[in-house]
Amino acid sequence: MTNNLENKTIIVTGANSGIGKAAAIQLAKMGATVIMACRSLERGEKALEEVKNISKSEKVVLMQIDMSSQTSIRNFANTFKSKYKNLDVLIHNAANFDHTLKTPVLTGDKIEMVFATNHVGIVLLTHLLLALMQHSAPSRIITVASKGLMLYPHLDIEFDNLNGERKFNLQHAYYHAKLAQVMYTYDLAEQLKETGVTVNCVRVTNVAIPDDRLSHLPAWLRKIYNLKRKMAITPERQAETYVYLAADPGLEKVTGGFWDENNKQVNSNKNSYNQATWKKLREVTEKLAGIK
Ligand SMILES: NC(=O)c1ccc[n+]([C@@H]2O[C@H](COP(=O)([O-])OP(=O)(O)OC[C@H]3O[C@@H](n4cnc5c(N)ncnc54)[C@H](OP(=O)(O)O)[C@@H]3O)[C@@H](O)[C@H]2O)c1
Repeated sequence: MTNNLENKTIIVTGANSGIGKAAAIQLAKMGATVIMACRSLERGEKALEEVKNISKSEKVVLMQIDMSSQTSIRNFANTFKSKYKNLDVLIHNAANFDHTLKTPVLTGDKIEMVFATNHVGIVLLTHLLLALMQHSAPSRIITVASKGLMLYPHLDIEFDNLNGERKFNLQHAYYHAKLAQVMYTYDLAEQLKETGVTVNCVRVTNVAIPDDRLSHLPAWLRKIYNLKRKMAITPERQAETYVYLAADPGLEKVTGGFWDENNKQVNSNKNSYNQATWKKLREVTEKLAGIK
């Protein structure tokens, strides 16, 4: 792998915590200009200092984005495009797994919060930055799903339940949106073939969640997370796959893959390969995202 990303500009969403922050550090160490796209400027500032200190790089920048708000995503994209003339890698790391969501909560755009943040917002952000990425080609888009999808072998896109109108629980909404991301990856990779822009998805495994992210949870849930942590890998270890997909010269033309934490391609759920569903999902998502 090249360890020189001097001329590369990379956006990492949700870079103030966990895997996103670890990836920002590793990419900044390799010389990239790293844009930490974070929801909270306060948490972002704290992480920015840490990323700069550990990577010993000054080429790290904090920008605000709320992936659940289309206005915020559009503002972010406009600001980014006014400041940067290239975008080499876009890492869609941020995701909502908010245990306080017991019933569907609609965003200002009238989309269920988990689907809005973990799927629709990602499609919109890519769309707004795609021309710049094509101009910067070869360039790379990295999406993030979950190994936990293996527990849902029959899950499919529920076009009659996108806002949780038929049934809702956080776990289900989360994996549904992650399945949508896998399909989106395959579909976009097909569409962008021959453009020099690749699209690959990380199958994130069980990764330790930092203590400070769990303090608001009830004691029984913290206990489960503590048990899970005994078998988890570190955010730094999982971030190595992000860096591999972002930087390995051998992957310049590799697209449409689903990658585990050992940087190996793996299969996803059977339903994720259904091209008719990709197309329907694309059309529905573009409508929800206000993409003409
Ligand atoms: N940890 C695991 O075991 C595991 C397993 C499978 C998949 N994953 C996936 O791996 C990725 C990283 O997770 P992690 O373990 O590093 O979790 P994490 O430490 O909780 O980080 C999640 C990041 O997403 C950000 N985020 C959430 N909602 C956002 C929004 N509306 N707008 C912008 N940013 C938002 C968070 O920002 P705030 O600080 O503002 O909340 C935080 O920076 C996620 O896509 C997750 O689904 C993780």
